[in-house]
Amino acid sequence: MKERYDELVDIINKANYEYHVLDNPTITDQEFDKYLRELINLEIEHPDFVRDDSPTQKIGGEVIDGFKKVIHDKPMLSLSNVFNESEIIDFNNKISKEGFHPSYVCELKIDGLSVSLKYKGGKFVSAATRGDGVVGEDITHNVKTIKSIPLKINKPIDIEVRGEIFMSKKVLKSLNELRSKQGLPLFQNCRNAAAGSIRQLDSKIAEQRKLDAFLYQLPNPEDFNINTHIEALEFMKSLGFKTNPNNKLVSDVNGILDFINEKGSIRSSLPYDIDGVVIKVNDISIQKKLGFTAKYPKWATAYKFPAEEVLTKLTDIVFTVGRTGQITPNAVLEPVIVQGSTIRRATLHNEQYVLDKELKIGDIVSIRKAGDVIPEVVKPIKERRNGSEKPFVMIDKCPICNSKLEVSKTGIDYFCKNDNCPKRNIESLIHFVSRKAMNIDGLGERIIEDFYNLGIIRQIEDIYDLKEKNTELIELEGFGEKSVNNLLTSIENSKKNSLERLIFSLGITGIGEKNAKILAKKYNNIYKLMNANFEELNAIRDIGPILANSVVEFFSSEENKTLIKNLDNIGVNMEYIGQKNVDNVNFINKKFVVTGTLSNYGRDEVKNIIENNGGTTSDSVSKKTDVVIVGENAGSKYDKAIKLGIEIWDEETLQNKLNL
Ligand code: IVH
Repeated sequence: MKERYDELVDIINKANYEYHVLDNPTITDQEFDKYLRELINLEIEHPDFVRDDSPTQKIGGEVIDGFKKVIHDKPMLSLSNVFNESEIIDFNNKISKEGFHPSYVCELKIDGLSVSLKYKGGKFVSAATRGDGVVGEDITHNVKTIKSIPLKINKPIDIEVRGEIFMSKKVLKSLNELRSKQGLPLFQNCRNAAAGSIRQLDSKIAEQRKLDAFLYQLPNPEDFNINTHIEALEFMKSLGFKTNPNNKLVSDVNGILDFINEKGSIRSSLPYDIDGVVIKVNDISIQKKLGFTAKYPKWATAYKFPAEEVLTKLTDIVFTVGRTGQITPNAVLEPVIVQGSTIRRATLHNEQYVLDKELKIGDIVSIRKAGDVIPEVVKPIKERRNGSEKPFVMIDKCPICNSKLEVSKTGIDYFCKNDNCPKRNIESLIHFVSRKAMNIDGLGERIIEDFYNLGIIRQIEDIYDLKEKNTELIELEGFGEKSVNNLLTSIENSKKNSLERLIFSLGITGIGEKNAKILAKKYNNIYKLMNANFEELNAIRDIGPILANSVVEFFSSEENKTLIKNLDNIGVNMEYIGQKNVDNVNFINKKFVVTGTLSNYGRDEVKNIIENNGGTTSDSVSKKTDVVIVGENAGSKYDKAIKLGIEIWDEETLQNKLNL
C-alpha cells in the first residue's frame, strides 16, 4: 500500500512537472484525475502516509494571521535601469574600463514580483518576498500552492533560489472576467494581480489565482562550484525549477542589442508580461570583482522597453470642471488595452496642449501610458484622416452651470468662476474629505455626488450636520446602521486633525499637502494664517508670490472667513498639533540614520521630515537603529546596517512610507 502511495506521489509530481514546468504533458487530464483521486483516498485512509512533497500539499487552505518578517541572508537587490542603445553601450564600456570584456546572459524581465525560495535537504521550506531588499515577508503558505514550484527538488541539498512570481495574461483575463461578474474591481495588470494574490492570508485564494514562477538567480553559486551564471541557470533547471527558455548567453554588446530587438518584437505574443530585458555578466568571478553600488549590482542592469503605444479612435473631447473651476479637456477614446489595462479617457490638460498636438475629433491617435501609469495621447495619425474629422473648439461657457469662463493670467487655463457651480462644489467637497485632507472614510466620490444631488450635503458645514440626519441616512439604499455609524465616527474623528490637514482641505489654489504643512508649522493657528499679509507669506521659503497671493485672496473672501468660523464653532481643530501625520505608523517611535546623498532632499530636510512624522534621527548606526535611509555613495553605515540586519529604505521607499 505504501509502495503504491509513493508511486502515485511520484507519478503525479512528474505529471505536474511536465505540465507546469516543461509545458509538455504526457498524460491526459482524465488519467491525472484518476491518479489524484486514488492518492487522496489513500491519504484519507492512511494519514500517516502523507509526504511533505505530496501534490495534495499544493491545494492550499492554510490561513495565516499576518505576514512574518524575514531577514534575507543576502540582500535582494534591484537593478539599475537603461532605456536605450547608448545607455547599454555605456554599461558595457564601464565594465571594459575596469579591464573586463565579459560575455553576458540576456534574460526577459518578467513583470511580476521577486521571491526567494529556500530548500533544506532538497525539500521546500520557505519563501519570502523581496520587501525592501533586506527584510521581506514570509509567503511560504501561498508559494506552496504554485504548481511550477517543486516541493522537492532533484538533489537533497540546502539551497536558496530567487526568481519572479507572475500571473499569465490568460489567467488575468479570466480572473478579471469573473471579478467583473461579481462586481469586484478589476486588476490593472498581471503584476498587480500577482502581487495581490501573493498577499492573501488564505492560501486557498492564492491557489485559485494560478500563479506561476520563473527562477533566475542563485545567490550562492560558489556553494555548488558554479562559475558562470549560465551554469547557474542550467543547474536550477536540472533541479526541477522552471527557468525561462529565452535565456541566452551572448558574447558581447552587439549580442545584447540583437537580443533586445528580437525579444521586443515577440513581446506581445508572449503568454506573460515582460517590461524589459535583464543583462547579467556571465562570469561569476568578474561579477564579484565588479561588486555593487549602494543599491545595485554593477554587473547587471535592466533594459526597459519604451512604453507600449497603441492606436485607437479619439471619438470626442469633453470638458470637466475641477474644484477650482479649472476647465480640462479630456479625450474620449474607443476603449483600448495598453499594458494590460483598458484606457477610455486621457487628460488633454488645456487648450494649448490640444492645439500643439493638432488633434481633431475623429482622429486615429496613438496612446501610451506615461511613466507606465497615466494614459497619454501621443499624437494623431494624420495619414489616417478621411476628411470627416472635426476641429477642436475650446468652450467659452461652463459645461455644468453655463456661466462665462474666464481666462487665467497666463492665458493658458480657463476657469468657471461661479461659486455656486454644482460641479465645483461637489469637487470641493470630495477634496475636503479625501484621505490626505480631512480623511473622512465612507464619503466616496459617488456618495458625495448623490448626497449633493439629494440636498443632504451642499456645503462643507453640512458634513458635520450629518449626525442629525442619522435616520434619514440609514434608510438610503446601500446604507445600513453600521456604515452610517462608521461614517459618523470618521466625521467626528476628523475634528481632531492637525491644522495642516484643514489648510490642505480648503483647496486654496496651489496649496498642496507640502505647502499646507509649511504654513501650519509657521502659523500654528488658522486665524494667524488668515491675518498674514502678502509680504510675510512671500518671504517664506517654498511659498513665493503666486502662492502668497493665492492665500491672501482666499482669506479675503467673506464666504471663506465664515466657513472657518463655522468649522471652529462646530469643534474642528484650528491648531497645529506638532507631530504631523500622527498616524504615520511608518515613523512613529523609530530611530533613523540617513547616509549617502538623496536626490530630492537635503540632509537637514530629510531629518526634519522624519522628525515631523514622529521618528527620531541619529548620526551613527547601532543595534538600536530601526531604519537606515540610503542614498547614492553610501559607505560604511550602509555596510554596518546590513551586518546588523537593520531595515533599509532607499529614497523611493522613503517617499512611499511618507505617503503611507
Ligand atoms: S535579477 C541581482 N533577473 O526585476 C539581480 N530580475 O529591477 C537581481 N526581474 O527585483 C535581479 N525578471 O523582481 C533579475 N530575469 C530577471 C528578472 C528580474 C524580472 C525583476 C526582479 C527585480 C527587478 C529589478
